[in-house]
Amino acid sequence: MVNQVPNVVIAVTGGISAYKIVEVIRLLKKENFTVQVVTTESALKFVGEATWSAISGREVVSSIWDETKNVSHVQLAKQADLVVVAPATADTISDLAQAKANNAVSALVLTTTAPVMVFPAMHTQMWEHQGTVENIETLIKRNLMVFSPDKGPLTSGDEGVGRLPAPSEIAKLVVDHFKAEVKPKILISAGGTKEFIDSVRYLTNASSGRQGLALAQSSVARGFDTTLVSTKKFHGGWNLIDVTSADEMLAVMKKEMLNHDIIIMAAAVSDWKVKQKASTKIKKSDSNWNLELVATTDILTELAQLAKPTQVVVGFAAETAPELSTLVSLAQEKLARKRVDMICANDVSAGKVFEQDSTHLFLIKENSVDDIGEMSKLAAAGKVLDQAVQIFINK
Ligand SMILES: Cc1cc2nc3c(=O)[nH]c(=O)nc-3n(C[C@H](O)[C@H](O)[C@H](O)COP(=O)(O)O)c2cc1C
Repeated sequence: MVNQVPNVVIAVTGGISAYKIVEVIRLLKKENFTVQVVTTESALKFVGEATWSAISGREVVSSIWDETKNVSHVQLAKQADLVVVAPATADTISDLAQAKANNAVSALVLTTTAPVMVFPAMHTQMWEHQGTVENIETLIKRNLMVFSPDKGPLTSGDEGVGRLPAPSEIAKLVVDHFKAEVKPKILISAGGTKEFIDSVRYLTNASSGRQGLALAQSSVARGFDTTLVSTKKFHGGWNLIDVTSADEMLAVMKKEMLNHDIIIMAAAVSDWKVKQKASTKIKKSDSNWNLELVATTDILTELAQLAKPTQVVVGFAAETAPELSTLVSLAQEKLARKRVDMICANDVSAGKVFEQDSTHLFLIKENSVDDIGEMSKLAAAGKVLDQAVQIFINK
């Protein structure tokens, strides 16, 4: 925790999930944070000024025309240790991308030099609209920390990506931002690798890379220097190294691990590759075709062997083992065989986990099995990082 009480400015915009931020503020006040609420005019149509001022214990700033003698947005921007825009509407995201200063929220974000977290929440179609996608890319380029919305039921009755993360998750990300006493350098791998058969066909798996992305987001939120080695082009406040095949991932991870303290292999690496890759597209023929595969190098084992005693190596184990005891014993066996510090095991049978927002991880160390329960991948990422950092501190 920083020496003085952290001053968090929560910028609320006009989304249906604005009510969830009342709980975020309550949780932050419990941690003794100073919380100042700034809102757009639309935000007040969802939750009124009385609620915001009562829960935060401070007058709300909802217009650049409030308290003009003090120029409130400039004062707040200067005093903030962290600005959190939540929920961030499509409209506000567009304002921020255009560097507008047309209301209290956009003027605050444009003025502050404090780190800014943005939690978009909107209907899936707004979130996936090319305009929003480009606006988000702009915010990420400017080093704002953008947290992808969750998937699930939306207010419109539809189902999809666009939900604001749970208040406890937002509060934890804020608390962790200030909590980190040590700042290890984190190396994360994400996504399923692709093993090309010829110039157009490849073998891959169902990994969406979301767990690796959530780890990178949580790591950056804590102010950790983070590198993401990924088969998916996830941009954020981390150093992204784009890879495709298992061999490429191995080479990059080996090189990068020299400069990192904690190595987390969240990627789903192909266990096999094609023995002889054709350089052009193989022509269709009517006869059957047997593809000869050879094993790829086990990246986790290789990294664990190369790791210095001060480095922490964490692996993931995706097993189709609906029986809890089988899952745990498979992961314990993997932990011992690969000589890693922790295995995060999950059961991926029956379409669980891959492509999903939630996961149920068991964090397995030499002498402990920690069932962290079912939760979002972002929340699980926070727990994995907590434990990995603890192992690092104790080494
Ligand atoms: C009932 C209702 C719910 C809304 N929910 C959202 C939402 O979750 N996300 C969003 O981007 N816009 C939402 N909107 C639209 C915004 O309120 C609208 O774009 C507004 O101009 C946002 O202004 P602001 O960004 O200045 O707060 C909603 C509108 C209504 C009427």
